[in-house]
Amino acid sequence: MSGIKTINDIISRAEHTHCLEKENIITLLSDEEGDELVFAAADRVGKKYVGNEVHLRGLIEFSNICKQNCLYCGLRRDNRNVKRYRLDPEAIIASAGQANSYGYRTVVLQSGEDDSFDLDTMVYIIHKIKELDMAITLSIGEKPREVYQKYREAGADRYLLRIETTDRELYERLDPGMSWDNRARCLCDLKELGFELGTGCLIGLPGQTIASLADDILFFKKMDADMIGVGPFIANKETPLGKEPNGTFELSTKVMAITRLLLPDINIPATTAMESLNPDGRVLALQRGANVVMPNVTEGEYRQLYQLYPGKICINDTPAHCHSCITGKIHSIGRTVSQGYGYRQKQAVS
Ligand code: 5AD
Ligand code: SF4
Ligand code: FES
Repeated sequence: MSGIKTINDIISRAEHTHCLEKENIITLLSDEEGDELVFAAADRVGKKYVGNEVHLRGLIEFSNICKQNCLYCGLRRDNRNVKRYRLDPEAIIASAGQANSYGYRTVVLQSGEDDSFDLDTMVYIIHKIKELDMAITLSIGEKPREVYQKYREAGADRYLLRIETTDRELYERLDPGMSWDNRARCLCDLKELGFELGTGCLIGLPGQTIASLADDILFFKKMDADMIGVGPFIANKETPLGKEPNGTFELSTKVMAITRLLLPDINIPATTAMESLNPDGRVLALQRGANVVMPNVTEGEYRQLYQLYPGKICINDTPAHCHSCITGKIHSIGRTVSQGYGYRQKQAVS
């Protein structure tokens, strides 16, 4: 127990200076007594710096084929119990057109690491979607710098690549064959090439410590990431971590809230995994510092096949249903849906 006075002091410092030492982050993460205070402060900072608007990004999960083998993920290459699919470029472009018709100004193209989408194919898709006057976020994994550069030149605006954990040893154990240094290299390249950079981490991975979550938050700050998405680890029985305990909603939103305190003007999604553990998860996350939601626009049976973890929300719903569902939830808490592209508006921190 650190005492509510200490907690209050730390939160007040974070709220006004947007800086915290690692020990203070650990105190906030370890002590549940201060949770509501952290959440309320994150809500205030969010309102002050990014306002009342919520940005919607239409998510297209265009291929569940992945050459990687992350121990936590249902799309890992060794999972034989998933029907694999990939959309063809015209279907992806059509889906982006549909996202546009719902008023989404950004489309997020997400997939496993599927090399059949080679550079020319991706450049073609990016060009076609840019003709719709939409912002494009890519979330398609680790690539060489030259490839990122071509995506950028073709018009891609943002890139999501979670660091997953800053604990290098844990990362390399859970993501066999992958190198933490290469992942960090990707993030630096993306930033230098002028992408808006999105990263984030999993909460509650087996073997992850509170101290390493504090390191994750400090890493986001050091990188000056433009977007941070965090979510609980959810055990998938089709993976080697199937019997491990899940991460928790509370700790996930606390990491998110502290991230809002330290990076006040960035975009922070209320993530799907949060709502998969708590039926009100996205609305609560929006009241704890989040300002973005990524409704799914993937069509038909494909949604069910993009199962990173069990219990994923919206798998039987249509894009139209998700659009009205999420709009209703946002309005129900007195927030509005942004009509803009939702780029980070960098602000002098005061
Ligand atoms: N539980 C929660 N999130 C997961 N992801 C992958 N597998 C799981 C899981 N079992 C997340 C990873 C990845 C993102 C696309 O999905 O953080 O970066
Ligand atoms: Fe592939 Fe990403 Fe899943 Fe790892 S987390 S197996 S890279 S889809
Ligand atoms: Fe998909 Fe609510 S956002 S059902």
